[in-house]
Amino acid sequence: MSSALPSPILEVPAAPEALLAEAGGLKDARAEEVLAWVEARFGARAALASSFGVEDMVLIDLAKKHAPSLRVFTLDTGRLPPETYELMDVVRNRYGVTVETFFPERARVEALESTQGYFSFRRSLEARKECCAIRKVEPLNRALAGRGAWLTGLRREQSVTRTAVEVVELDRDHGGLLKLNPLAAWSQREVWAYIKENAVPYNSLHDRGYPSIGCAPCTRAVKPYEDERAGRWWWESREHSECGLHPVR
Ligand code: ADX
Ligand code: SF4
Repeated sequence: MSSALPSPILEVPAAPEALLAEAGGLKDARAEEVLAWVEARFGARAALASSFGVEDMVLIDLAKKHAPSLRVFTLDTGRLPPETYELMDVVRNRYGVTVETFFPERARVEALESTQGYFSFRRSLEARKECCAIRKVEPLNRALAGRGAWLTGLRREQSVTRTAVEVVELDRDHGGLLKLNPLAAWSQREVWAYIKENAVPYNSLHDRGYPSIGCAPCTRAVKPYEDERAGRWWWESREHSECGLHPVR
C-alpha cells in the first residue's frame, strides 16, 4: 500500500482514471487498510453493498473499526429468506448502522408477476435475468447514484465467474466510480476464521448448508463436495451464475 496520505474528501468527483490511479496502491492492501483509506478519502460518500452474506458481515465488522462513516445499503428484492431479514435487524441493533434499503420499482414487479407469475425465473435464462434486472440491477443503479465508491464482499475463489476480481476496480457501468473488493484474495476459511475470532453474527442458513445466500427461491443448500455457489440458480450452468450486479469481464 502507498504510504502517501489520501487526498481529502472531495465534493467534486475526480475523473475516473485519476481515481483509479489514486487507489492503485491498494491493490495488495489488507482489508482494514482499504477501509481506512475509504474512510479518509470518501467518508460517507462510500457505501457497502450488503446481502448480509458472511463476507459482508466481515466487512461490516471491519468498517465499525476502520471506516465508521461507511454507509451500508441492501437491495431488498422482496424474495429474500426470512433469516436474512432477521440478520438485518441484528446488524442494525448490534452495530448501530442504518441499513439503507432499495426496493425494486413497484410497477415493474407488478407487471412481471401479473403477466408471468411468481416463478418466471425458472422458465429460461432470459426470464431469470429479467427478474434479476428488475429486482436487483435497477435498484443498484439508484443505490450507487451520487456515491464516490462502493464496496462488495466479492472473492476470487467463489466461482469461475470471479477469478479476475481485483481489490480495486473502476466501475464504468455506473459512471466511473471506484468498486472496491477488500476480500478479493480471502479464502472461505479466512472469512470464517474472522467471523469466529471476532464473534460476528451471521445468517443462520450458513449452519444449514448454505455457503452463499441470495433470494429464497433461487438458493438451495449445497452438498459438502459441491462448490460454494453451487446452490445459486442451481439449474443453470455455472458460467451463468451471476445476477448482473457484477458483470463478468
Ligand atoms: S450475487 O450474485 O448475489 O451478487 P453474492 O451473493 O456472492 O452474489 O454477493 C456478492 C456481493 O454482491 C456481496 O458481497 C454484496 O456486496 C453484493 N450483493 C449481492 N446481493 C446483494 C443485495 N441483495 N444487496 C446488496 N448487495 C448485494
Ligand atoms: Fe429474481 Fe431469483 Fe434473481 Fe431474486 S435471484 S431477483 S428471485 S431471479
